[in-house]
Amino acid sequence: MATTPTPGADRVRVAVRVRPFSQREKNAGSKCVISMHSRTTTIHDPKNPEHTKTFTFDLAYWSHNGFQMEKDGVFTAVGPTSKFAGQREVFHDLGRGILDSAWQGYNATLLAYGQTGSGKSYSMIGFGANKGLIPKVCEELFQAIENRERNQEYQVTFSMLEIYNEQVRDLLSRTKKPRGLRVREDTQLGFYVDGLRSVPCENYAQIERLMEQGTRVRTMASTNMNASSSRSHMVITLQFKQFFPDRGLTKQSCINLVDLAGSERQKTSGSEGDRLREGSHVNLSLTNLGNVISALADIAVGKKVLHIPYRDSVLTKLLQPALGGNSRTALIAAISPADICYEETLSTLRYVERAKKVRNKAVVNTSALVRESRAANSKLLLRCGHSRMAEQPADLLAELGLGPHTHQLTWAHLLEQAREEWQQHHVAVAQERQMLKTLPHLLNVNEDPQLTGVLKYFIQAGSCDAGQAESNALTLQGLGISDKHASFTNLDGQVTVTPYNKCNVVVNGVPITTKTKLQHLDRIILGSNSAYLYIGFPSERASEDLSRFDYDFFQLERAAAQGMSVDKLGARHGGNRRADPSVLAVFQDYIKLMPLVAEANQMSEELKKGLTMELKVKNLASSDSRGYDLQKEVMVKVTNQRTHEVWVWSKAKFINRKFLMEELYQHLLDGEDSHIAQEDDPFWDPVEVVHLGSAHIWLQSLAYCMQFEEQVEFLNCDGLAEAVLHIHVTPCSPAGRACGEEDVVIDPLELLGKRMDFQIRIERCLGAKWLKEDTERGIQMGYRIYDLPHPLYTKPVWKIANPQIEESVQFTALNASQEFLNYLQTNALIVDLWGLQEGCAGLSCSQLDLVVTAEGHVMVDTKKISTLADGGQMPSNQISELHLKLLKLEQETELLRNINRALREENMFLKDSLDKTGSCQQGKRLSRPHKPPNTQTGTGMTTRLPPAREGKQTSTPQAGYDRELATALKVFYQSMNMARRQFLKVRHYKPPEDDQMLRPFVYQQSQMLKDFGDLFESSLWKLKNDVALIVKKKRECLLYNK
Ligand SMILES: Nc1ncnc2c1ncn2[C@@H]1O[C@H](COP(=O)(O)OP(=O)(O)O)[C@@H](O)[C@H]1O
Ligand SMILES: [Mg+2]
Repeated sequence: MATTPTPGADRVRVAVRVRPFSQREKNAGSKCVISMHSRTTTIHDPKNPEHTKTFTFDLAYWSHNGFQMEKDGVFTAVGPTSKFAGQREVFHDLGRGILDSAWQGYNATLLAYGQTGSGKSYSMIGFGANKGLIPKVCEELFQAIENRERNQEYQVTFSMLEIYNEQVRDLLSRTKKPRGLRVREDTQLGFYVDGLRSVPCENYAQIERLMEQGTRVRTMASTNMNASSSRSHMVITLQFKQFFPDRGLTKQSCINLVDLAGSERQKTSGSEGDRLREGSHVNLSLTNLGNVISALADIAVGKKVLHIPYRDSVLTKLLQPALGGNSRTALIAAISPADICYEETLSTLRYVERAKKVRNKAVVNTSALVRESRAANSKLLLRCGHSRMAEQPADLLAELGLGPHTHQLTWAHLLEQAREEWQQHHVAVAQERQMLKTLPHLLNVNEDPQLTGVLKYFIQAGSCDAGQAESNALTLQGLGISDKHASFTNLDGQVTVTPYNKCNVVVNGVPITTKTKLQHLDRIILGSNSAYLYIGFPSERASEDLSRFDYDFFQLERAAAQGMSVDKLGARHGGNRRADPSVLAVFQDYIKLMPLVAEANQMSEELKKGLTMELKVKNLASSDSRGYDLQKEVMVKVTNQRTHEVWVWSKAKFINRKFLMEELYQHLLDGEDSHIAQEDDPFWDPVEVVHLGSAHIWLQSLAYCMQFEEQVEFLNCDGLAEAVLHIHVTPCSPAGRACGEEDVVIDPLELLGKRMDFQIRIERCLGAKWLKEDTERGIQMGYRIYDLPHPLYTKPVWKIANPQIEESVQFTALNASQEFLNYLQTNALIVDLWGLQEGCAGLSCSQLDLVVTAEGHVMVDTKKISTLADGGQMPSNQISELHLKLLKLEQETELLRNINRALREENMFLKDSLDKTGSCQQGKRLSRPHKPPNTQTGTGMTTRLPPAREGKQTSTPQAGYDRELATALKVFYQSMNMARRQFLKVRHYKPPEDDQMLRPFVYQQSQMLKDFGDLFESSLWKLKNDVALIVKKKRECLLYNK
């Protein structure tokens, strides 16, 4: 074949198109972060609005706003000032470009790139009246052919394929080849798909039918194999050949129109933290497309590139001519305008920024007609490989599945065949249209709006079964759909659905078990996740907008029925209706993962893996050490039904595993061996320690040197009690002697710079559900106080229902800092409960980086110490030893200084008193801690401070009143502390899931509030009384003195 090189015009052209807000984005109150001017596109960082990035591409299409819908449903610009670009404008540049290239004999490629939902398919295929580039290009091509001179001949063939998980599926073929069609390489042809159907077409109506057929196959694949279309690439290829008998030559062009898979998974599917390699080959083609583009962009800027990895994926093999080869190529980047998609949009813009550097070597594909005459004799001009313009070897044609006499087929014959098929289809479509008008039916609803409403199931009068088996009147494929799944009846103007035993049928979000009447526009889910919209009898219908009932609608409804909503995640800021973006993101994740988890469970069942997966929200009801809600994220709790082993998977890990599960499940569907070695099994993991819940122990009392004992619940992520922790926190002397009531301070600042010792004693863990569920299990508890470098764990205990732990650790702050005292007053100690399962090692902490005192107590509040230690060059063990000595010395000196100061003060005071009162009683001022006023030691919980009135008046009246006031305040502090605890308890007391339990809940809650109120009132009353008494006494004394 002769090729004529043409200069220039072979840089990849890049266009960007921004779509309107989606409903989801509107609900989230999204802001637009994109602006466009002429050829530039600017993206604004929503977190930092001044931070913008501007890109210049060949074309920028503003389809975000400034449009209206015409009567025929087409979106057009409103008014002359609107910069809105509709499908017509996009076709004007990109579509025309392709057609011009084709007529000139160039190969042309158009790729649509962007995250799922960004508008790739809208631009490529379009929706309803807003036809996209592919149909428009085809339509115009045939229109132009019709207007051409009669003495020229044209041939057009059409093929449509999908690449999913590195497998090629012919979308025009009814039979699916296991593991897909092979991509072969021919020295002349380059890469081509072996056995791909390429159908001759003579008008646009035929192309329309083929596209419908392809979409149907794609939809079936998506529902049957639960292969999400967003993960597949769709490639439509038109082979266009022109014959010029008078000039004795032919021109041919191969037009590739590619709707790429969603670009987002390149980052997010990540197998981070997973034992198993990244899930299947889902990302391979797209990632590798990026690698090829990068390599070509490097070449374009003069960098040396040794290898362009075309061969590393199916997509890049087929697109080899389009990238750096013989094709004029354009790329349209579809982007979302919303702030919540900022990262993804930025990454799309960066990706295509690289692509615009790629240079191609497009040539006009001409060949002499003489050479064609041999083939023309038999008119065997059918293309089978879609990737190149050259002739296919004759034996390849036989593999097309067109029968043993393929070689005798003529172009005219093939056209005739295609025409017949089209006519049959035409009749079927007319029949279907009629049935749609008269019969109640189900319409499929797919995650991909392009594939929604493609499958229609009519409910004829009488009764009919639905299920996987061909014998059913309604053959419905899909994960979790049984052979005989449900029966539908259409009797007396009413349609009902009845599930067969235990088959999953969900109507309007709620699972049903018995015969249920259907209403027009009811939402039905069969099996794990096959969604259908029920369209009732014509009399029930109005001109409603069906697009409202999209996939999101189904999932939101299902989530709501399960009690999950944005509000449940605690999202709204006061009166503001806009939910917290981070919470919304978690909710979106939940909605996205919910059907995937249902599918994974079904695969587990069918593959007999015995795993149950449950979608959870981590930290749904958990708070941090200061009581603030913790960052939430979705997670999947996995339980092995047989062994009771439990795992917790992150979202990324689950998604990765789900891909791997699908791969395994596909083997099962293809009738292949689905056995897999345990270490490669996505349904298996080594046992691990599981986080069960956390208990909060507020440390405020410690800041007042009060000891306390608590029985606190370990709450799981949902806020439900998992077990009860019995714990003591006791301030003590360095030697470990518990402090008494006399050591209680009024102001924590009194402890500033002093040595503080306290013991945390974990007494026992009561009623752990984890242990009750399986007697072979064990538990461990761990906590981290203040600046401890890592948590301390209690020893593992196994197979005991209510284990007695009795582990005590003494902590020492040598020089209590302001921050530490603040921490004590505002933070809780979080004790985590960990579940151990047979075969897993317990948690242990390294003692190496713990700093301990000479007595062996664990040091906290060591910031000052570590700053000192960091300065030296000595080995750390020596440093810590020396510093300990130094600190001890420092501390002793400080103590001596304090005593000295106190003695001096006392001396002065005594002198003063003597001077003032003369003969008045000798008094001495008490100053803690050197001279405790009361030697009474604490017993157990320190809720019993000596009441103010019990204090003996042994000093001057003034000193005595001060002391009494101090004691009264201490008691008040103590009660306030208790009140605080009660208040927190009320705050964390969550309403029950079950509405019927609301009454007892409200009763209990009001009881708790009443207790809290009573305590609060009585504390205030007591303080008032105590103070009044002191004032009264003081007055009396004054009177007496006078
Ligand atoms: N330019 C646009 N104008 C109007 N709606 C659009 C536009 N682009 C996308 N949409 C809508 O956004 C949704 C997602 O678009 P779609 O093309 O399916 O995304 P993708 O193929 O990238 O996953 C669809 O409902 C589609 O109708
Ligand atoms: Mg799409």
